[in-house]
Amino acid sequence: MAESAELILDGKSYTLPVVEGTEHEKAFDIGKLRDQTGYVTLDSGYKNTGATKSAITFLDGEEGILRYRGYPIEQLAEKSSFLEVAYLLIYGALPTQEQLENFSHQITKHTLVHEDVRKIFDGFPSAAHPMAILSSLICSLTAFYPESVSPDLSKEEIDLNVIRLMAKMPTIAAWTYKNNMGHPLNYPRNDLDFCSNFLYMMFSFPTEKYDIDPRIVSALNKLLILHADHEQNCSTSTVRLVGSANASLYGSVSAGINALWGPLHGGANQEVLEMLQAIQADGGDTSKFIAKAKDKNDSFRLMGFGHRVYKNFDPRAKIIKKAADEVLAALGIDDPLLKIAQELEQAALTDQYFVERKLYPNVDFYSGIIYRAIGIPTEMFTVMFALGRLPGWIAQWKEMRENKEPIGRPRQIYTGELERDYVSIENRK
Ligand code: SDX
Repeated sequence: MAESAELILDGKSYTLPVVEGTEHEKAFDIGKLRDQTGYVTLDSGYKNTGATKSAITFLDGEEGILRYRGYPIEQLAEKSSFLEVAYLLIYGALPTQEQLENFSHQITKHTLVHEDVRKIFDGFPSAAHPMAILSSLICSLTAFYPESVSPDLSKEEIDLNVIRLMAKMPTIAAWTYKNNMGHPLNYPRNDLDFCSNFLYMMFSFPTEKYDIDPRIVSALNKLLILHADHEQNCSTSTVRLVGSANASLYGSVSAGINALWGPLHGGANQEVLEMLQAIQADGGDTSKFIAKAKDKNDSFRLMGFGHRVYKNFDPRAKIIKKAADEVLAALGIDDPLLKIAQELEQAALTDQYFVERKLYPNVDFYSGIIYRAIGIPTEMFTVMFALGRLPGWIAQWKEMRENKEPIGRPRQIYTGELERDYVSIENRK
């Protein structure tokens, strides 16, 4: 007999069906709760609420497990490439050689953006944050491809929008950086793979040859793989919610970019670097900043620490920490900020405040050390997170559409004024 839960309200008994996933996670299905009982549930921050059923990514926060379509992140980070992982997330299976070559070729063919996109750059102040520009320009793709707003796109049309987005985001991201630096823009090259092309567009200069370092290409592939999806996090839930209104893929992802920019979410990688630099400027006393993080009267938080789901360790942080050591050693870089980060981690992991609250380094704690080592400026760190998360956002948007999920519209508990009559302005106090 299917498992269920009994709810007793005002003396009446209601049965709630239990839903069990392939990894034996369980949920009460409350889809009919309000119709049957007049009650809704309340769960600020959705800490206990499942928004959907999904076959894309599995997390186990207690065990520190992260798998994309069943494949452990440790294996993918070691053996796969970002485009192969993107295909896996979006289409549900590892591609054959032919499928991967076709996917990669299609993306290469679409890396150019309309020349009118360049004109939009001219409208931004030179000091504009790259995430503000990225979210605007990704949304602008809806203007350049108006057919993308149709809710009745065929599979082929959706695939074309997927290819366009995967192809043009790196170009737009790199142009955002070059525009901010006042450098000439580099056009994409069809002879380079995804990560090499991005590095070329970011760092090549007309006046000097840019040698693409395979060690940096490998580090970038690994970082993008580790950021590619993370089930129903804030920005992905945003993409799904906006997409549930039949908004276009470009508009939905643009909304996700803005959610990711939040310093409590993907914006934390920039905050971590700035925090490490502040500690360095202050003399490097990590204990002072640990005390600030614990002080309830101080708004300072240890950025890059803590996670809504991982209450043990973030498996991505372990891989990135190891990669940071490897990349810096390979490039012969001795970054004092890495030492400060390691000291901070050690201090926090032996401090009761952090141990009691199960606060460990998350994906953002060490990623900036690597971005910095490969020459990416701090303000571009969250753009890098968005570039990595793009296939996850696409996969989740596509799954929501294919499952024909209803428009997202949460309920509330009203706590405002009771009914009262209008008072004309002359009679107001
Ligand atoms: C990402 O969801 C995802 O999957 C996100 C992500 C992804 O891949 O998409 O993994 C990416 O967003 C990683 C998180 C990056 N953010 C940060 O590093 C910012 C710092 N971390 C925190 O603000 C916090 O830990 C969150 C936002 C990550 C999680 O917040 P929660 O789950 O709402 O936890 P909380 O704020 O309720 O904190 C619980 C307790 C509180 O203390 P008490 O009220 O119990 O005394 O822990 C404390 C908090 O004050 N706490 C921290 C802390 N994080 C939590 N105290 C000091 N420093 C911190 N970093």
